[in-house]
Amino acid sequence: MSFKSVFIKAELTQNIELGKDYYVSWFNAPEIIKTISPGQFVMMESGQYLLRPFSVYEIKNNNIGFLYRVIGGGTSFLSKLKIGDKVSIHGPLGKGFSLPENKQKPILIIAGGIGIATFPLVARIAHEKGYKVKTLFGARSVNDLVCAEELKKYGELESITDDGSSGKKGFVTELLTNELKKNKDQEIFVCGPTPMLKSVIKVCNEFGVIAQVSFEEFMACGYGVCMSCVIMANGKYVRTCKEGPVMKSDVVAV
Ligand SMILES: Cc1cc2nc3c(=O)[nH]c(=O)nc-3n(C[C@H](O)[C@H](O)[C@H](O)COP(=O)(O)OP(=O)(O)OC[C@H]3O[C@@H](n4cnc5c(N)ncnc54)[C@H](O)[C@@H]3O)c2cc1C
Ligand code: FES
Repeated sequence: MSFKSVFIKAELTQNIELGKDYYVSWFNAPEIIKTISPGQFVMMESGQYLLRPFSVYEIKNNNIGFLYRVIGGGTSFLSKLKIGDKVSIHGPLGKGFSLPENKQKPILIIAGGIGIATFPLVARIAHEKGYKVKTLFGARSVNDLVCAEELKKYGELESITDDGSSGKKGFVTELLTNELKKNKDQEIFVCGPTPMLKSVIKVCNEFGVIAQVSFEEFMACGYGVCMSCVIMANGKYVRTCKEGPVMKSDVVAV
């Protein structure tokens, strides 16, 4: 079922610093929360010419939360907002993750870096509906393993870091390979930087499994008109903001 997105002015209710450069900003947005499904995103005012896309991290009462890492002008603008400031938000947008019809099929979440931001809501809803949830989380270092504790509330979590500062040293694809050797019959949800997505899709292809992958391409409009977000799928260009951001791994060219 698809619902209409809305443009609203939303008030900042809380801004929490999670660690160096990581924040969760909460906005009062009942109009958006009404129709949201896990894995969707919004376009948010950024103090820059263009709005910026953000995954929905969590919803709580009438508030919607976004987890982000400050990397440039837009995220810096967000991190400096004061309680009571209002920003324009357009959403919910795009297609999110689909839970499998078979509730016995475990959900395996694969997150890379800030790609984790889309998963607390997904994991909580899946857990509340009775699915078994496991998260494999790859990050640059221990400082980037944000919200791992929160995900542990909904199931097992294994982490791996590029520098070995927490857990094993290596990439999340190693954890995925081990997991698929044990059980291929899992519903796999993936989000992270493009090189990591490509590596994960290659592993899935080797094992003959199809994952649901969330693509975080650059987006200018977020609702299908500018074509700035296209990728190749099934031999033609598709808009990750409209046909995605979540798409099946078997249609995507890697
Ligand atoms: C559907 C979707 C959901 C997203 N959800 C989140 C989220 O929940 N949390 C979060 O922190 N970020 C998320 N992002 C990325 C977020 O939109 C970018 O971090 C943001 O656009 C950066 O804006 P900025 O103005 O701070 O940086 P800019 O000044 O625009 O860019 C700073 C630097 O980051 C690079 N950059 C910017 N955007 C991207 C990108 N998408 N991929 C790779 N490099 C990039 C630029 O090339 C530049 O080098 C999402 C992106 C998409 C498409
Ligand atoms: S961001 Fe404009 S078409 Fe996708």
